Amino acid sequence: MAERIVSAKPQAQDGALDTSLRPKSMRDYIGQDKVKGNLEIAIAASKKRSEALDHILLYGPPGLGKTTLANIVAVEMGVNIKITSGPAIERPGDLAAILTNLKKDDILFIDEVHRLNKTVEEVLYPAMEDFALDIIIGKGPGARSLRLKLPHFTFIGATTRYAMISAPLRNRFGAVYRLDFYSVENIKEIVRRSAQILGVEAEEAGLEEIARRARGTPRVANRLLKRVRDYAEVMAEGRITEAVARETMVRLEVDSLGLDEIDHRVLRTIIEKYDGGPVGLDTVAASISEESDTIQDVYEPYLLQLGFLGRTSRGRVATRGAYQHLGLAYPEKAASEQGSLFN
Ligand SMILES: Nc1ncnc2c1ncn2[C@@H]1O[C@H](COP(=O)(O)OP(=O)(O)OP(=O)(O)O)[C@@H](O)[C@H]1O
Ligand SMILES: [Mg+2]
Repeated sequence: MAERIVSAKPQAQDGALDTSLRPKSMRDYIGQDKVKGNLEIAIAASKKRSEALDHILLYGPPGLGKTTLANIVAVEMGVNIKITSGPAIERPGDLAAILTNLKKDDILFIDEVHRLNKTVEEVLYPAMEDFALDIIIGKGPGARSLRLKLPHFTFIGATTRYAMISAPLRNRFGAVYRLDFYSVENIKEIVRRSAQILGVEAEEAGLEEIARRARGTPRVANRLLKRVRDYAEVMAEGRITEAVARETMVRLEVDSLGLDEIDHRVLRTIIEKYDGGPVGLDTVAASISEESDTIQDVYEPYLLQLGFLGRTSRGRVATRGAYQHLGLAYPEKAASEQGSLFN
């Protein structure tokens, strides 16, 4: 399947661009004011005490800037950051090796922390809590456990699935921050900054047009900007105008709210095949030959945010807004039936 232009997941086409556009300091990190404010206070306080920062859990949909934020925290603290991800750490020994290589105050960043396997996770508990590593020497009845001391480090975990983080792990974080979708205004500032870095001229209305379709997600915004820039270069002497941005979106089949063909299929399936729902997520996934995990991580959060989808105990429902956006008549009977499900 072709890569979706509006997918919030990282893609090969992002490549070097993602890195060059990634803000390196809190000042350049636009939006997420609450999280930023709290982090700034925590950083200042820990610097004042000359102590390592508390362990932090960052969660939220993909592409909102979790990895970026972890890197910025390291820069602001003036410490090293070691970056890895849940699936990359296969055995407890792999994590032990990483932990023993950390220096005092270093940051260990584990992306997709919900995908750590159980045996690896258990190594993390004493490491986070007591800065200790328990190793078993020998086998059978003669085996002994040895406790190694680790330097005080800061663990930053990131996840798109808060509910999949086990309670023991969750409880060991000193702070938990949720990243939200960005407002159109914030995305517009991000696109403005990116355009500047890329050295491309953009009119206000052109920026606005890109921002409105970026699904509140910086990664998507930067990707759209890149495509609009290409089009502008070929068709409009490199200048991003409203018309250029619009025309690019038509070509990319991205609608006025940033929805693409697959979003439309998700909504249409619920509306046309299942009378607007409620219908289970797995059923929707099977009907459009997608994995339920992908739908839940990638498509659904933004549709929920728009208020086009509702989650009920009996499954997903398409809301009045979804019908309207697709230009379909809303059956009032469904409204009263669904209404009672939300209670
Ligand atoms: N607040 C921000 N201001 C400006 N640009 C941002 C901001 N947040 C993210 N970006 C841009 O979006 C891109 C994606 O961000 P990042 O890789 O940090 O997302 P993520 O939340 O870690 O995603 P994933 O869940 O896929 O790991 C970055 O390369 C950066 O260019
Ligand atoms: Mg990331």
